[in-house]
Amino acid sequence: MAYADLRAFLEGIGDDLIRVDAPLDPRFEVAALLAELQASGRAVLCENLKGRPGARIAGNLLASRRLAARALGTTEQGLVDTYMDRSARRLPPVAASEAPVHEVVHRQPADVGALLPLVTHYEKDAAPFLTCGVVLARDPATGQRGMGIHRMMYKGKNGDGRRFGIFLANPPLSAFLANAEASGRPLEVAVALGVDPAMLLAAVVKTGPQGPDKMEIAGGLRGAPVALVRALTVDLEVPARAEVVIEGHVLPGLREEEGPFGENTGSYFSNLSPVFEASAVTHRKDFIFPALVPWTADVDTLLSLAGGAELLGQLKGLLRGVVDLELTPGTCSFAAVIAVRDCPKTEVRRLIHLALGLDRRLKSVTVVDDDIDIRNPREVAWALATRCQPARDSVILGGLEGYVIDPSAAAGGGSKIGYDATRGPQPIFDKIAMPPAAVARARAVAATLTGANS
Ligand SMILES: Cc1cc2nc3c(=O)[nH]c(=O)nc-3n(C[C@H](O)[C@H](O)[C@H](O)COP(=O)(O)O)c2cc1C
Repeated sequence: MAYADLRAFLEGIGDDLIRVDAPLDPRFEVAALLAELQASGRAVLCENLKGRPGARIAGNLLASRRLAARALGTTEQGLVDTYMDRSARRLPPVAASEAPVHEVVHRQPADVGALLPLVTHYEKDAAPFLTCGVVLARDPATGQRGMGIHRMMYKGKNGDGRRFGIFLANPPLSAFLANAEASGRPLEVAVALGVDPAMLLAAVVKTGPQGPDKMEIAGGLRGAPVALVRALTVDLEVPARAEVVIEGHVLPGLREEEGPFGENTGSYFSNLSPVFEASAVTHRKDFIFPALVPWTADVDTLLSLAGGAELLGQLKGLLRGVVDLELTPGTCSFAAVIAVRDCPKTEVRRLIHLALGLDRRLKSVTVVDDDIDIRNPREVAWALATRCQPARDSVILGGLEGYVIDPSAAAGGGSKIGYDATRGPQPIFDKIAMPPAAVARARAVAATLTGANS
């Protein structure tokens, strides 16, 4: 079932939404509470913001696979298959019959920060950042539509409340800006804030510079086309049921310090970045502002579907024996574990090269047999510790481009490593286990012991 918009999702998840009435400051306190409540795996709606009467912030929208499954209208077990199936469908957007996002219009706003409850996340962040705006643009060279999540730093603290630094490292938008700048023109941009989580997911699917229209992927993932309406001050279409849209331009040729910002790597990262200038803010009368705290399970969920599921599908298509893949949580998809079955050592080596080559972000891959639970760090560490001899079983690739937000690649140059932690044929690699009858008996006894399982 498709959720029409963010608020329909929040209403639809029932007990999976935590409502917070305590007064919270969008500067640090909202992000801190969202981080604190991550382990619950539930979404959060902060309904009482200090200094912002009536404003609300929703976060932790994808804090668990359960929420991601709900966003796609499936079960946790069916999540990856549903994602793969739907992301391959293309449903073109349609013209909206109504546009709640245009209920309130501010043209040429003097200070965007005065209109919206911008969130400041980590202690050393230079300013409030937009972290889950879906940035929409068209390629000035071809007219093709593109979108992605791109962090945006509010410059109001420096006296310019219409401007944001925008980090445009990835295609397609980085390529669109290069094309605009080649002819000395600004790049028209609209930032949709508060979209349903399936659309957020579509925004980060890897399509490359020439890839398909992610708005069509969003339709496929949602199971219903996205309804678009013309923006008011730029020649773009925007999701009519978004909570908020900021319209404007990325200014050609200008680069300014952006950051520090606590990134999805868990480290601070600064950059010389392009500058966006707002020409309008439009929103619903009672808008819900979205939050996404970097380096949390929300990011892991987005990356594990948009990156991990895609890579697993590609590898399965290239090699026999690939069973499952997990991007290691908290690593910004720099590390992965892959499970294989009946895969000869020579094929494991090929798999390592393929996986590291296909995903430019992936820096370390560990291949294990499918008797290892790849979502259990203890089991993965055990396989590495007992089934792998680094000098014999590792592959190191050097002379590569480092990924821009990886602090260890800051000095320039990148490298990658793969570990073959698969078992050989000998019984010395067998996992120790207790007799099944004894385990069954123990479970039955344990269930009768008050408090033993709590
Ligand atoms: C939570 C999150 C934040 C992101 N922030 C940025 C960003 O600030 N700048 C950027 O260029 N890409 C960012 N990305 C990546 C793009 O939104 C998008 O994933 C990318 O365009 C996908 O294509 P690629 O992986 O082939 O580059 C982010 C992705 C995620 C999941």
